[in-house]
Amino acid sequence: MTVTVVEHPLVASLLTSLRDRTTPPSLFRLLTKRLALALALEATRTAATTGCLVETPLATTEGRTLDGVPVAVPILRAGLGMLEAVTELLPDVAVGYIGLERDHATFQPTAYYSKLPPLQGTWVLLLDPMLATGGSAAAACDALALQHPGRITLLSVVAAPEGLRHLGKRHPAVEVVTAAIDRGLDEHAYIVPGLGDFGDRLFGT
Ligand code: PRP
Ligand code: URA
Repeated sequence: MTVTVVEHPLVASLLTSLRDRTTPPSLFRLLTKRLALALALEATRTAATTGCLVETPLATTEGRTLDGVPVAVPILRAGLGMLEAVTELLPDVAVGYIGLERDHATFQPTAYYSKLPPLQGTWVLLLDPMLATGGSAAAACDALALQHPGRITLLSVVAAPEGLRHLGKRHPAVEVVTAAIDRGLDEHAYIVPGLGDFGDRLFGT
C-alpha cells in the first residue's frame, strides 16, 4: 500500500489547530475544509492529463486538460467535512456516500447507508478524516471493490499505524494520503495524540 504524508507548513499549521481541544466546531469545519483541499491536491498529483493548445490574449501556448474526473465518496458522518473541498476543486465530480458507524465496545463498523454511482474503472477518492483501527476504511473499500473501481485513494487527516497495517492487509492496492501518522491507539481505539472524535467536533455533538 502506498502511504503519502503531506509535508507542508500550512498543513502542519492547520492540523495543529484541528488538534487543539479549544477549537470550536465553526472553526473546526473551516480548517477541515482547508486541510482537505491540500490533501486533495496531493492525491490528484498523478491525475492523467492530455496536452492541448490554448489561446491567451497574446499568443497560443500549450496547456493540459484533465482526462477524467474521480468519484468522491465520503464516509458518513465525518467524511462530509472533506467533501466541499473536493467538489470545489473538481466541480464535475460524481459523489457517492457510505454510512458507517463504529461500535463503542467492539470498534467494529456497521453499515447504515450506501448510495454509490457506477464505479467500474473509475478513480475513487474515499474521504474519511480518521484512520484508527482501519475497520471503517476497510469496510468501505470492501463495498467499493464490489463495483471494481480502477483505483482507490483514501484521504485521511490523521492515521494510526494500526489502521494503516489493517487496511494494507485487506486492500494492498489502496493509496493513502494523510496529514499525519500518529503514535497509536488508546484502549478505546481513539488515535493518540489524534484530535478526539472528529464527527462530534465537526458537528458539535
Ligand atoms: C469515525 C471516523 C472513521 C472511523 C475510524 O467514525 O470518522 O469513520 O471512526 O475508526 P476505525 O478506523 O477504527 O474504523 P464514527 O464511527 O465515529 O462515526 P461518525 O463519523 O458518524 O462520527
Ligand atoms: N474516530 C474518531 O473520530 N477519532 C478517533 O481518534 C478514532 C476514531
